[in-house]
This record gives sequence, structure tokens and C-alpha cells, in this order.
Amino acid sequence: MKSTLLLMAAVAAGLSSGALAVPDMKESPGKAAAMQGAPAENARPHYRPTGKPVSAARGEAIFLDHCAICHGLHGKGDGPRSAFFQPGVQYIPDLTAAAFLKGRDAELLNNIREGLRRLPEPAYVMPQFKYILSEEEIRSVLAYVKTLPATTARK
Ligand code: HEC
Repeated sequence: MKSTLLLMAAVAAGLSSGALAVPDMKESPGKAAAMQGAPAENARPHYRPTGKPVSAARGEAIFLDHCAICHGLHGKGDGPRSAFFQPGVQYIPDLTAAAFLKGRDAELLNNIREGLRRLPEPAYVMPQFKYILSEEEIRSVLAYVKTLPATTARK
């Protein structure tokens, strides 16, 4: 009960100090830019470095959490989101095609970090993961992606 009262007091204090008011553009340009969807200059990573070794096994869990929605459970490019892609314009690759991934580690890592935007703004077809995943997680997920061609070939 006591904590509920404290919470209510905190909410009331927040309201009266104008916490919910629209930010003044001149006073907080960063906040205003963030609200308009422009990349904030002070954008910071949302992850904590894990300190764990790179591993394809960990990469599988990361792939299911962050990538399968577009790329599909097995990387075929048939995730639920792909149904909303504009046919003939938005392109989603088949990550199980060995030739597509071969010898492109540095480029692939960079594209996972920075995302891919081959359409006019503001369409990011492939999101940026540099603020969401740590470097170890990005490398782990690529290690997992690179196992996809062999796993699908076995099926
Ligand atoms: C919102 C949908 C979406 C999500 C989520 C997504 N991707 Fe993609 N990804 C795409 C699309 C679309 C492309 C192709 C973009 C292009 O080539 O223009 C792509 C391309 C790629 C490529 C090929 C890049 C290249 O250089 O050819 C890799 C590898 C990849 N994604 C890995 C991932 C990984 C790993 C994740 C999760 C951490 C992920 N993607 C999450 C949509 C997505």
C-alpha cells in the first residue's frame, strides 16, 4: 500500500514537472530529432557486451529472436515479414545458398551491423543491428548463418 502511494506521488510529480509535455525544439534538439525518427546523435547501443566466445550455437538463438521474422526459421527468406515485401522491388536473399555467403564474411558482418537500404528513404529493408547486438552476438549469428547451407543440404 505504502509503495502504491509512493508511486502515485511520483507520477503526480512527473506530471506537474511537465515530463509528458512535448519537448521544446530549441531546448532539446536531440529529443525532438528522435521523435521525428531521425537518428539521434547520441544514439547508444542497447546491449551489454557479453564477454562470451563467438559460437554458432549461440548464434542460432539470436537468429531465431532477431532474424527469422524476415529470413525464415531456416534462412530461406520466407519469414512472416517477407509476405509484406513489395514483389520485384524488395529483395530478400536465400541464406541457404552457399555461393551467396562464400568469402564475404567482412561484408556480411558489416551489412548486419549497418543494415541494408537499397530503397529510397526511409525504407530500411534490413535493419541495423549495431545498436541491438554486441559484436560477439553479430559474429555468433553470422557463424550460425554460415551453417545454414550445409544444414539445408542434408534435409
Ligand atoms: C525486417 C526484415 C529483416 C530482418 C529482421 C533481418 N533481415 Fe537480413 N536482410 C533482409 C533483407 C530484405 C535483406 C536483403 C537486402 C538487400 O540486399 O537489399 C537482408 C540481407 C541479409 C544478408 C545478406 C547481406 C549481403 O551482404 O548480401 C544477411 C547475411 C542477413 N540479412 C542476415 C541477417 C541477420 C543475421 C539478421 C538478424 C540479426 C537479419 N538479417 C535480420 C531483411 C531482414
